[in-house]
Amino acid sequence: MWLTRPPPDLLPFLLGFFVLSGQIFAAVSLDKLEKGQNLTDGQTLVSSGLGSYTLGFFSPGKSTKRYLGIWFTVSNDTVYWVANRDRPIDGNSGVLLLNDGGSLVLLDGARRPVWSANFLASSAAVVQLLDTGNLVVRNGSSIAYLWQSFDQPTDTLLPDMRMGKILWNGDELYIQAWRSDDDPSPGDYRRVLTTEGLPELVLWRGGAKIYRTGPWNGKLFNGVPEAANYSNMYPLHVTISETERTYGYKAMPYAPLTRVVVNHTGFVERLVWDKSSRAWHQFFIGPGEPCDSYARCGPFGLCDPAAAAKSYCGCLTGFSVASPLEAALKNFTGGCRRNVALDCVAGAMTTDKFAVIRGVKLPDTLNASVDKVITMDECEQRCSANCSCVAYAAADINSTGCVIWTDDIVDVRYDPPGQDLYVRLAKAEFAETKPESKRSLTVPIFTPVAAVVIAFILIGFCAWAVWWRKKIRIVHIPEDPEMGVRSVNLATIKSITAKFSENRFIGEGGFSKVYKGESSDGRMFAVKRLKPSALTIEGKKYFAREVAVMAGLRHNNLLRLLAYCNEGDERILIYTYMENGSLNSHIFGTHCPILIQLKYIADT
Ligand SMILES: *[C@@H]1O[C@H](CO)[C@@H](O)[C@H](O)[C@H]1NC(C)=O
Ligand SMILES: *[C@@H]1O[C@H](CO)[C@@H](O)[C@H](O)[C@H]1NC(C)=O
Ligand SMILES: *[C@@H]1O[C@H](CO)[C@@H](O)[C@H](O)[C@H]1NC(C)=O
Repeated sequence: MWLTRPPPDLLPFLLGFFVLSGQIFAAVSLDKLEKGQNLTDGQTLVSSGLGSYTLGFFSPGKSTKRYLGIWFTVSNDTVYWVANRDRPIDGNSGVLLLNDGGSLVLLDGARRPVWSANFLASSAAVVQLLDTGNLVVRNGSSIAYLWQSFDQPTDTLLPDMRMGKILWNGDELYIQAWRSDDDPSPGDYRRVLTTEGLPELVLWRGGAKIYRTGPWNGKLFNGVPEAANYSNMYPLHVTISETERTYGYKAMPYAPLTRVVVNHTGFVERLVWDKSSRAWHQFFIGPGEPCDSYARCGPFGLCDPAAAAKSYCGCLTGFSVASPLEAALKNFTGGCRRNVALDCVAGAMTTDKFAVIRGVKLPDTLNASVDKVITMDECEQRCSANCSCVAYAAADINSTGCVIWTDDIVDVRYDPPGQDLYVRLAKAEFAETKPESKRSLTVPIFTPVAAVVIAFILIGFCAWAVWWRKKIRIVHIPEDPEMGVRSVNLATIKSITAKFSENRFIGEGGFSKVYKGESSDGRMFAVKRLKPSALTIEGKKYFAREVAVMAGLRHNNLLRLLAYCNEGDERILIYTYMENGSLNSHIFGTHCPILIQLKYIADT
């Protein structure tokens, strides 16, 4: 099964030993194979530099079959690339061979090829596992690659990989889930960059769309606003050029290991390695809530995450449920119908107007037409002048460019800050509008919007803090901030948490543990206690900052900071207690780079 190998911390030491002793090392390089060399089952290549990645043979889950794969050295059950996905090897007789002719082949016990890297064989070839996790074949000292594993993704996208279309050779790169935990062969789910309309990432199950991220808006995917929380560590980019239409991301030098994986249960996740807890933390999951499921509310429907009572479904302004009976049975796939017919005849002036729906994930742009150059005013005119146009929107976040929809509008949801969608409606729909005031939206969205605005203030603060820390190393932050939040003593906290007893323990993140607190009059609190490992000088400063920021925020939908404790080596925050599951994500702040920074500080 898994190979026994030295723990990663020993590697530099061992490397040093080999170099010093001046042997073995010269004979067998740890990260590459030269022509004529081979790698048998039990041997591994480890990437040079930090040694983050390891190539070797493995058996997944309960399977006894052998596969050649690459995994994270710190987490050897996290295999991100498999060579022979659907051609397993029986027994431990597999061998990866860079043969004399310069081809890279994987042979089974009977010396039959089960996999080979597709490139023009070169007698000068060298195969090497780079510290990006990329397995490459090079021609001698040339830096150009004859072949690279990054061009043959399995189910995982690492930093510097890309997915999408490579136009010069016609390749389509995408990630596809394993069939099960025990079987890495291609499963039902795959994640693809769609390049018709605006670029966006779509999760497919066979031939059915399951979930889309919303279009790329120049900075992130419109339906994944939370990417703003980590895009300073892992900047995303979409490349549209003559040679490729691709999506990828980078990792900043200080950033922890990360991966984006599509798993066999039908979810895409971004995971980040937390050194201190030695576990993967989830930064993103999609689909993440009911409104994420593709076209849930049908054509011209509008999904509202806050409208659970209505099965989340409503209609765009100016539309009503097409089949009230079906809707009563909570089936909204029939979507919505226009209330008042449009007034549009080709060549004649129209009286139609546009209603704006703010803060949404834009509809599927598959059949939409996109013009990256024209302004929003021109976009409105173009839509107005074309009787097939039912809606338009800006093509990117700077309100430039134009997307025009001419058939059904599907898969719209509230997703603040989102984008604005302009829907064409008959003049009569605006009749009762008071002068100067915009017609209100059909679904009340004030509360979630407010919550999200506050969340974004927080995110903005986080981003600012990270920037600030990078920019100016010495920042004066008072150790014990003065603020409108009460300081309480440790004894009080011990009494409400029964001395941090196990049965009060709710959960933990990389830097803190959270307990349920209960006062003598029965009120509940969430008590967040920083772990000793997070209590560096910098860690304490960031604690002070979290107190300062959270103290200023008051909102019903937000966890509220009630008090803090700063006594000796204890740093504790007391929050309002929320019964539902949202507590964890709020309190562990997995969405806040400050805590990542904290973690990073704590780790170094
Ligand atoms: C692998 O390399 C070893 C040592 O160089 C050699 O003895 C062995 O025959 C090779 N195996 C294969 C399958 O080429
Ligand atoms: C795009 O057009 C095709 C063909 O008319 C249609 O079947 C499909 O539903 C449309 N898709 C979207 C998202 O509008
Ligand atoms: C209306 O827009 C569609 C899609 O952009 C286009 O195919 C069609 O030619 C336009 N019609 C007119 C009359 O401009």
